[in-house]
Amino acid sequence: MIKAKLTFLSTICFFVLNSCDSKSKTLSVNERVSALLKQMTLEEKIGQMNQYSSFWDVTGPAPKEGSAAIQFDHLKKGYVGSMLNVHGVENVLKLQQIAVEETRLGIPLIFGFDVIHGFKTISPIPLAEAASWDLEAIETSAKNAAKEAAAAGINWTFAPMVDISRDARWGRVMEGAGEDPYLGSKIAHARVKGFQGDDLSNPSTIAACAKHFAGYGFIESGKEYNAVDVGTQTLHNVIMPPFKATVDAGVRTFMNSFSQLNGVPATGSKYLQRDLLKRDWNFDGFVVSDWGSIEEMVEHGYAENAKEAAQLAVEAGSDMDMQSLAYVEHLAGLVKSGVVDEKHIDDAAGRILRVKFELGLFDDPYKYCDYTRETATIGNTSLQDASLDIAKKSIVLLKNKNQLLPLKKEGLNIALIGDLADDKTSPLGNWILAAEKNSAVSVLEGLKSYPGNNVEYSVGTTLNIGPLQFAKELNINTTDKSGFAAALNLAKTSDVVVMVLGEHGFQSGEGRSRTNLGLPGLQQELLEAVYNVNKNIVLVLNNGRPLVLNWANEHIPAIVEAWQLGSQSGNAIAQVVYGDYNPSGKLPMTFPRSVGQVPIYYNYKSTGRPNLPSPGEVFWTHYQDEENTPLYPFGYGLSYTTFEYQNLKIESQTDTTLDVSVEVTNSGNFEGKEVVQLYVKDHFARPAQAVRNLKGFKLINLQPGATKTVQFKLTEKELGFYNSNGDFIFQPGEFSVFIGGDSTADLSLKFKL
Ligand code: BGC
Repeated sequence: MIKAKLTFLSTICFFVLNSCDSKSKTLSVNERVSALLKQMTLEEKIGQMNQYSSFWDVTGPAPKEGSAAIQFDHLKKGYVGSMLNVHGVENVLKLQQIAVEETRLGIPLIFGFDVIHGFKTISPIPLAEAASWDLEAIETSAKNAAKEAAAAGINWTFAPMVDISRDARWGRVMEGAGEDPYLGSKIAHARVKGFQGDDLSNPSTIAACAKHFAGYGFIESGKEYNAVDVGTQTLHNVIMPPFKATVDAGVRTFMNSFSQLNGVPATGSKYLQRDLLKRDWNFDGFVVSDWGSIEEMVEHGYAENAKEAAQLAVEAGSDMDMQSLAYVEHLAGLVKSGVVDEKHIDDAAGRILRVKFELGLFDDPYKYCDYTRETATIGNTSLQDASLDIAKKSIVLLKNKNQLLPLKKEGLNIALIGDLADDKTSPLGNWILAAEKNSAVSVLEGLKSYPGNNVEYSVGTTLNIGPLQFAKELNINTTDKSGFAAALNLAKTSDVVVMVLGEHGFQSGEGRSRTNLGLPGLQQELLEAVYNVNKNIVLVLNNGRPLVLNWANEHIPAIVEAWQLGSQSGNAIAQVVYGDYNPSGKLPMTFPRSVGQVPIYYNYKSTGRPNLPSPGEVFWTHYQDEENTPLYPFGYGLSYTTFEYQNLKIESQTDTTLDVSVEVTNSGNFEGKEVVQLYVKDHFARPAQAVRNLKGFKLINLQPGATKTVQFKLTEKELGFYNSNGDFIFQPGEFSVFIGGDSTADLSLKFKL
């Protein structure tokens, strides 16, 4: 490695702007970028805009034929700017050496990877982390993921996904922060800060990527990759705020979306990429396409062929081509024939080089390739401890009739039932490209780590009967009930039954849309059968999206939403079940009563007929066969204690600001945390605004009997909104503020500004 480094230094000193002389040290990043661009051929600049996924086993022989041989040739010529899906110091080092030592200019590669909720040590899926409403813990989680990934050679993550979504049918809701733009923006900011820290050149931080720009979360009917058609109100007030928050946090890259937005594929959208992002928001990092999305513009019916797709994408501001080959194959010809202006190439290549300079790759391209750091960091105890910490905080208590929970730690016979209870892979969730299968703590292990009770396990019903592969459909068991009898026998003779049911980790995520939001396979039938023999059930849910849980909510006394919680899942669940951690999570997405209500969300717009005029009348906003309300609203979550809200008052007021306070009391017997939520209703506005919007929240901890005064400040920023032109405006008038423990909070105050 040292030899490699020396060779690099001499190469880079010679070619890259005399970067080792004292003059270059005083140059700014922008000056270094422009000087380097001047030395590059057109093909080399386009090469920076080309990204390949790992195409051969880099520790084996070099590829000699097929597309791998072509890509290998591109690598050696300097026609590749970035690789994805390569990880581990050995692999990264080998490729970086080729780029640095064998290409004409020795420009280092940037290595991207989907570090979505951890690298090897897995933290809860992002939707679960959002349920913690704990920005500090979320930032720490991203920071740890960056540290671990960076130790394995990665310097760029394709996260955070900041797509707001109101549609539980869409499998990728697991990867976002839920339905609310305010909460989503705060979390987006925290995640970028966590990944990037304050200094991108620190080898424990990595560049973040805000994705998918923009609108993917609003795909029609929740069907993966579908088209998006939204109006300007939704676009500016709901979809955009979290993206803007990432820019404010200094995010260095964006990824565009597979989907088309109002008829234009996001990848080819000049409005999104050049006008909004790069001009209005002053974003000076780069935009990577999503996987193959440049060429997919042909399938969208937007470009005639890959060549035209390359032209449209580069002109629109897509800077790097992930894996479609459209740029490397067509851009040089398009420039030489005068179709594409070379200024677009300079702009794109310059943006990519800028991020490489900021990462410090030109000063030391092997800075992420330290074997000692790799061994010391990956999977270490402090990362596991942090994963456990946020896993506990992500759990949401949905129901707890007669305080069935927490369970006693001694003397109980517990029947543990459900395939997911003994699963050590599913809790890792969907994005587990670098994680080891079978590495999570299962619920069985977690409960057994409390030795005072007798825990017996019975599977009840197998969930997936096919192979488990990231890119393949599961085969859900819908016929084999052979495990029912043993589970029922066990349940009959136990004091309490803990059932772990829900979705396998590979039932949500990309390519995993669903139309049925119940418990998959035979699990509902099993739940009802067990209930018939023992009603003392604690239902622990594992899922990557809101589910429809009407029957369970009506019959099962205790329900714990445990999502997919990552490496420490079973320990986190056991601590909540036994009361060593008092649950404090709140839902970041509405749980419907029926799929027919979807999209269902708390910040809807009023209709002209919101109320039932008289019993039995039909002409008002409603369904014939379902209630309007959700099963569990946004922001909802219980605790082992209770909280009371009183004395909401205005502390002070100006023409454009309002200070309010409220007293929150822990009225139960446990110490507990509460997410105090503030919602605002703008009574009259043009355009009309939602019935209420989250505009503040605070996480507080209270001892039993203690009271805290919580204060909030509202300014034009919280009280204004984007109009149809995308301009932020504040319209004075009548508002109401609501404060409480979820989005149905009714303690309110009216005020006029
Ligand atoms: C996903 C992106 C991801 C990329 C690279 C795509 O299929 O949509 O979110 O970052 O693959 O793995």
